[in-house]
Amino acid sequence: MLLPNMKEARKRTNVKPEFLYNEYNVNQNMKIGKNKKYFIKTYGCQMNEHDSEMLCAILEEMLFTKTDVMEEADIILLNTCAIRENAHNKVFGMLGRIKHLRETKPNIIIGLCGCMAQEEIVVADINKKYKWVDIVFGTHNIHRLPNILLEAINKKQQEIEVLSNEGNVIENLPYKRENKYKAWVNIMYGCDKFCTYCIVPYTRGKQRSRKKEDIIAEVKQLINSGVKEITLLGQNVNAYGKDLYDNYGMEDLLYDVSQTNIDRIRFVTSHPWDFTGKMIDVIAENKNIMPFIHLPVQSGSDRILKLMGRRYTKEEYITLFNKIKSKIDNVSITTDIIVGFPGETREDFEETLNLVNECKYDLAYTFVYSPRENTPAAKLPDKTTEYEKKNRLAELNLLINKYALENNKKMLDQIVPVLIEGISEKDNNMLTGYTDTNKLVNVKATEDNIGKIVNVKITDVKTWSLNGEIVS
Ligand code: SAH
Ligand code: SF4
Ligand code: F3S
Repeated sequence: MLLPNMKEARKRTNVKPEFLYNEYNVNQNMKIGKNKKYFIKTYGCQMNEHDSEMLCAILEEMLFTKTDVMEEADIILLNTCAIRENAHNKVFGMLGRIKHLRETKPNIIIGLCGCMAQEEIVVADINKKYKWVDIVFGTHNIHRLPNILLEAINKKQQEIEVLSNEGNVIENLPYKRENKYKAWVNIMYGCDKFCTYCIVPYTRGKQRSRKKEDIIAEVKQLINSGVKEITLLGQNVNAYGKDLYDNYGMEDLLYDVSQTNIDRIRFVTSHPWDFTGKMIDVIAENKNIMPFIHLPVQSGSDRILKLMGRRYTKEEYITLFNKIKSKIDNVSITTDIIVGFPGETREDFEETLNLVNECKYDLAYTFVYSPRENTPAAKLPDKTTEYEKKNRLAELNLLINKYALENNKKMLDQIVPVLIEGISEKDNNMLTGYTDTNKLVNVKATEDNIGKIVNVKITDVKTWSLNGEIVS
C-alpha cells in the first residue's frame, strides 16, 4: 500500500525529472480482459480527459472492450477531479450508486484514480469506509494500471498505489483518441505556481516540460493519422521549457509546431504571468495558430489577486489583454473567475465586475471559491456567507452572458472557417463544429463535410452557440 502525502507533494527540489521511454509495458500475463468490458467516468479538466484516453488505450491493450453502459462493465474506473468540493461530492455520490453492482457481480473491479486519489483524506476514507473499492492509483502512475489491477486480483484485497513525488516524464504512453480530427497533446505536466486556493500543484507534481522533439514527433504522427487540430495541454503552458531549456520557450515551441503545417493549433491554459510579447507575435504571424486565448484572471481586485498569489495586478492584466486584442486579428479571449475568495468584500467583487465590463469576454467559466484542504487560502478568515457568494456568482454570470451574446451578435452574416466534427446530438439534420475562435456552431451541411474545415455563414446567434450554413 502506497498512500498519498500532501506534505511530500508540496516539496520542490532541484532534482531534474527523469525522461523514461520504456516505463509502460503490457506483457502476455496482463492480457486478462478477453470478453470483458470496461467503463470509465471522467471528471475535471482536459488533462483528465486526456488521461482517460490513456486509461482506455491501456485497458484495450489488456484486451478489455469499452462500454458506455456502467451496468455491463467488468471494470469501472472513476477518473476524479479535486478542484472544488462539488467535484468530490459527485464522485462519492457515484460510488454510492456503484456499490450495489458489487452484489450482483462479485468479480467486478472498481477503481478510483485521478486527482482525488492524490488526497490523503480521500484515500483514508476509501480505505476505511469504502473497502469494496478494489484499486486506487494517482496521477503519477497511470501507466502502472495493469500491474496494480493484477496485484488486486491476485491478493483479493484493496490495492492502493499513490505516489506523492515531484513526478517524471514518461514517454511511451498509449492514447486512444475518441475524436478523429482533434487531439490533445501534453506539452508539460504539473504546476509550480501554487496559487493559494489551488490543489493542482499537490495533485499533479512539479512542472515538467516534455522534450520539444518528442512533442513535434507526436504532432507529426497525429497529422499522418488525419488529425486537423491539436491542443497543446498544460496547467500553465506559457511557462513551457523553463524547467528544461535555457533558451527555448513557449514562443519557440508554438513556432516549431506551426511549421509542421497542422491545420489548427490551440493551447490551454495560459497564466498571464508568463505571456511574452514574442508569444503574441508568433500567434499573430502564424495563421495555423488559432486566434483564441483562454486567459484566466480569477479576480479584478488587486488585494484579492495578491492574496491568491497570482503575481499580476488588474492593470497589468488589462495591459496584456489589450496587447493581445490589438496584435492578433479577430482574437477571442475567455477567462476563469473565482468569486467569494476569503475576505472578498462587495468592493472587491465590484472590481471584478468592472474588469469584465472592460474586457467584455467572449466567454468565462465562473466559480464560487471552494476551500481545499492544506492549501494556504483555506486558512484565511472568511466572513462572507454562502448565500452572498451565490448572489455574486449569479450577478457576475448575468454580465458574462450579456457580453457573450453581444460578441456573438457581431458575427451575424459573417463567413467563418469551421472544422466540422460530426452530427449534432440534438438535431440529426445538423452538423457541429468550432470556429477558429473556438465558438460552437450548428451547421446545415451534408455529412461528407465531416472532418473538413469549411466556410460557414452565420445565420443566427445565441449566448452559447451559433447557427450557420455552408457556403462554397
Ligand atoms: N492552470 C489554470 C487553472 C486550472 S484550474 C490556470 O491557472 O489558469 C481551473 C479553474 O478552476 C481555475 O482557473 C480557477 O478559476 C478554478 N479554481 C481552482 N481552484 C479553485 C477553488 N479552490 N475554488 C474555486 N475555483 C477554483
Ligand atoms: Fe492552480 Fe494556479 Fe497552477 Fe493554475 S497556475 S493550476 S490555478 S496553482
Ligand atoms: Fe481537476 Fe485535477 Fe484537472 S483537480 S481540474 S482534474 S488537474
